[in-house]
Amino acid sequence: MNTPFLFVADSVEKTNSLGRELGSVVRAGDMIALSGELGAGKTTFVKALATGLGISEDDVSSPSYTLLNEYDGRIPMYHFDLYRLEGADDVDDLGFDEYMDGDGLAVVEWADVAPQILPSEYLEIKIMIKGKESRNLELKGIGERYVKLVEHLREDMKGVAS
Ligand SMILES: Nc1ncnc2c1ncn2[C@@H]1O[C@H](COP(=O)(O)OP(=O)(O)O)[C@@H](O)[C@H]1O
Ligand SMILES: [Mg+2]
Repeated sequence: MNTPFLFVADSVEKTNSLGRELGSVVRAGDMIALSGELGAGKTTFVKALATGLGISEDDVSSPSYTLLNEYDGRIPMYHFDLYRLEGADDVDDLGFDEYMDGDGLAVVEWADVAPQILPSEYLEIKIMIKGKESRNLELKGIGERYVKLVEHLREDMKGVAS
């Protein structure tokens, strides 16, 4: 069974608590694909992920102009933002494949812009704006590793989600 986990975050802090928890359980080679409109909270979530990896959230900025930022935490975090991706050439230039199954966590904002670069297994997170401070985060595991990860998070976040 692979039921998506709907996490209702009625505050930034709730989004942060989920991101931190995920950051503490991911392992090298993991891949997270984030989607959601501008201002949904993708970068906010990546900052919380960073905190869970032992990276200072203040160090994390949106990599919109570089497409990729790297950070050193418990494991490295490779932060992609495909918002300004121009086309297939840009994707090739990224050398994206090198970061898959690598030594760190790969997390991609605007993953839906270039679905062709996603590996066969990953954690999909869709963020939807529900109100000024309110977001719905839908987590879906693609592949066995990520289905288990989602179930783990669902258990861990019991009592936190409103
Ligand atoms: N529940 C919430 N979860 C995440 N962000 C929220 C929430 N409520 C309000 N926000 C705000 O929404 C904005 C999201 O911006 P950002 O993370 O840069 O979005 P994106 O990277 O998706 O464009 C931030 O200013 C953040 O404080
Ligand atoms: Mg962003």
